[in-house]
Amino acid sequence: MKRIPLIAGNWKMYKTRAEAQAFIADLLPLVASAQRRIFIAPPFTAIEAACAAARGSKIVIGAQNVHDANEGAFTGEVSCRMLKELGAAFVIIGHSERRTLFSENDTWINRKLKRALSEGIIPILCIGETFEQREVGSTDEVLFQQMEEGLQGVTKQELKSVIIAYEPIWAIGTGKTATPEMAQAVHRRCRLWVEKKYGLDSAEQLYILYGGSVKPDNIAALMQEPDIDGALVGGAALDPRSFAQLINF
Ligand code: PGA
Repeated sequence: MKRIPLIAGNWKMYKTRAEAQAFIADLLPLVASAQRRIFIAPPFTAIEAACAAARGSKIVIGAQNVHDANEGAFTGEVSCRMLKELGAAFVIIGHSERRTLFSENDTWINRKLKRALSEGIIPILCIGETFEQREVGSTDEVLFQQMEEGLQGVTKQELKSVIIAYEPIWAIGTGKTATPEMAQAVHRRCRLWVEKKYGLDSAEQLYILYGGSVKPDNIAALMQEPDIDGALVGGAALDPRSFAQLINF
């Protein structure tokens, strides 16, 4: 099965509604003929405006986080149902900034992921090791644990809707990218882990994105690797021209 390259932009806490609309209006003509899947995750407040601007195009809008309950006394939180109503079709779960700055753990991440699945939203599960973990040789152990716990209770059928994003923490926003060979080796081992747990067909259809300082000048080499199916991009997804270059790599 062929996995069409998927380029996802994570805008983090950037862009107002008006800026989101202007970005998409600028992006659309630049990617009109791209044979790519295109995802954008604006801040919550700009999701509805981004959906309106992207309507009728192949750009898919999603969110950067979600709570695992559908409603309740959770000050400051947003549920899958609220996101769906705005038009969000996917949600990033367990981004390393959420894990480190907002103390999210694998148990909570798993609850969010399962809620997204049951509400029909595509979860992008982020995994990644720190520099220290890589240095002491525990990269695989860390990633397998994040997948084991993050995907706890997820069925083979449900896995079809899950996307994994491998984002080495030392590469996020630092300008240091894993080399294509390094990233490929990790993606391969993650896919083999999925194969062991879910079977070859599940492993082959699974999208594994790479993230961490992906730029227009390094994306082509990354995307040549057989197990890298796309990119999750922060900084370089904030400008429509550079995001279009990533999409049209
Ligand atoms: P970056 O961020 O591309 O700015 O390194 C990636 C991410 O956090 O998803």
